[in-house]
Amino acid sequence: MQELDKIIIEAKRTFQAATTLPELDQIKGQFLGKQGVLTGLRKGLSQVPAEERPILGAKFNALKTELEALLECRKNEIKAEALKERLDNEKIDVSLPGRKQALGGLHPVTRTLDRVTDLFSTMGFSVASGPEIEDDYYNFTSLNQPEDHPARSMHDTFYLDDGKRLLRTHTSPIQIRYMEHNNPPIRIVAPGRVYRVDSDATHSPMFHQIEGLWIDDRATFADLKGTVREFLRRFFEKEDLEVRFRPSYFPFTEPSAEIDMTFKDGWLEIGGCGMVHPKVLKNVNIDTERYQGFAFGMGLDRLAMLRYGVTDLRLFFENDLRFLSQFVV
Ligand code: DAH
Repeated sequence: MQELDKIIIEAKRTFQAATTLPELDQIKGQFLGKQGVLTGLRKGLSQVPAEERPILGAKFNALKTELEALLECRKNEIKAEALKERLDNEKIDVSLPGRKQALGGLHPVTRTLDRVTDLFSTMGFSVASGPEIEDDYYNFTSLNQPEDHPARSMHDTFYLDDGKRLLRTHTSPIQIRYMEHNNPPIRIVAPGRVYRVDSDATHSPMFHQIEGLWIDDRATFADLKGTVREFLRRFFEKEDLEVRFRPSYFPFTEPSAEIDMTFKDGWLEIGGCGMVHPKVLKNVNIDTERYQGFAFGMGLDRLAMLRYGVTDLRLFFENDLRFLSQFVV
């Protein structure tokens, strides 16, 4: 009898110690299996005196039932614990905020380009474009720079392998392409990439310009000055911005001027302009007795640098997200 009680205590302890179902199964074998403790006990029953046998037999059966019940109970506990652990681990907190998809932003030069063309369109200009690969005629000759013209050396040109085609060095060829297919009155701006063999903090081999062209029967240098000045004041949102037109030379304009604006304590060059040279108009068969007009070209990257306070032009073209992501809003 004592031994039976001891077995119950021992069984409870080992069952409780088992933490997995295979472990519990193994323990079950130790008690209820063929070689188990109970089997041994049952064999021992036959040696017990006949009169004690029914009591011990009943006790034995009760013990067996109890062990089975304990086992079942522990089995359910282990299952419940495993389920709880899984639920805890796989729990999804639906109230957590989601991971946001990072939103990209437009490149600062693109923003500037959009802003500039928007401003010009409110001033009555439409937008034109032209190819980045040009030939000698559109980039130079038609703009009054024949082959031996010294002004050609002002631009260090990238030539393609065929020696004929080139990467446009300015947006001025778009003037010619537009005038070839459109009659005056003409009022366009033409933004785009341009290329020159040049690279330092304020020069990049690829940069952006915006070209302007206004041709009708009365456009004057005064209109040119008013247009450029008004644009710059709107672009920089500074009513007191001073703009200066400094006499200069371009082959495709006469007279020509460099556009300077006040910046910090001095003047900063922002582009070139002038009255379109009659030779240029003749090249596109525009009647110079009837029509005249002006053109201008400005560095878009320059405008972007000034507007955003960027001091090295190359930052715009390095695609470093630490720099670019500052312009997201
Ligand atoms: N194409 C010139 C350059 O890249 C800039 C320029 C000057 C454009 C005068 C013009 C102009 O339209 O009239 O240096």
